[in-house]
Amino acid sequence: MLQVKGISKAFGGLMALNNVSFTVEAGEIVGLIGPNGSGKSTCFNVITGFMPETSGSVHFNGKDITHLPAHEVARRGLARTFQLVRPFPHLTTLDNVLAGCLFGHAGMVTRKTAVPHAQAVLELVGLADKKQVLARDLTVMERKWLEVARALAGRPKLLLLDEFMAGLNSAEIPQAVDLVKQLNASGITIIIVEHIIKAITNACGRVIVLNAGEKLAEGSPAEIVENPQVIAAYLGTRYADR
Ligand SMILES: Nc1ncnc2c1ncn2[C@@H]1O[C@H](COP(=O)(O)OP(=O)(O)OP(=O)(O)O)[C@@H](O)[C@H]1O
Ligand SMILES: [Mg+2]
Repeated sequence: MLQVKGISKAFGGLMALNNVSFTVEAGEIVGLIGPNGSGKSTCFNVITGFMPETSGSVHFNGKDITHLPAHEVARRGLARTFQLVRPFPHLTTLDNVLAGCLFGHAGMVTRKTAVPHAQAVLELVGLADKKQVLARDLTVMERKWLEVARALAGRPKLLLLDEFMAGLNSAEIPQAVDLVKQLNASGITIIIVEHIIKAITNACGRVIVLNAGEKLAEGSPAEIVENPQVIAAYLGTRYADR
């Protein structure tokens, strides 16, 4: 479904991504992990057309999407959440999700057809009773769920989640993992960036590890958590503490 071939991204002299390649098959939940600054968000930015790559290519459903603008990538069914959530603060929760309907894959251009779908998405993420609340009045956590809802509103085929579990408490994390599995079961292929390793090992069938802009390892969660290079570069104490 997704082929990332040799993407590099330079910021001045810094290679945020250096010749990274991987593929994702339809139906998978893939984890993308690595230390702070290893290039995970940059990878999402390049895939979704929010940043031009320095070199390399991205194919989605067999089509070259490397040079497409973000709204066109979204229209083809590839949605993402942002690590720093940014809802429209003066719009209600429902209207934020409706904006996502117009931006995404679904082509639901009239409010009449979009509203029931937006309400269903809010139900799914547990925000149905907040639909008339202004986004600026939501809690940080609720804004994170709204960010997921906004991405889902366009009925994506592939959803990229950038640290949407960060800041959730220990009771909320299993719920978030369940939601990811539920979305996947409904037919959405998912790539998750997350530092919460337990969430990654519970949710993902396969894990890709970035380190300093390069792909360090790729494998099943069991293989990754035992990989000495991954432990040395990233997991170390994090996994031991889990
Ligand atoms: N717009 C930008 N301009 C300049 N440098 C950037 C920009 N975005 C990212 N970088 C740099 O590129 C590198 C990779 O950053 P990126 O945000 O992709 O890391 P990350 O793996 O998502 O980290 P984190 O786990 O902290 O979110 C970092 O050194 C970062 O400072
Ligand atoms: Mg990041």
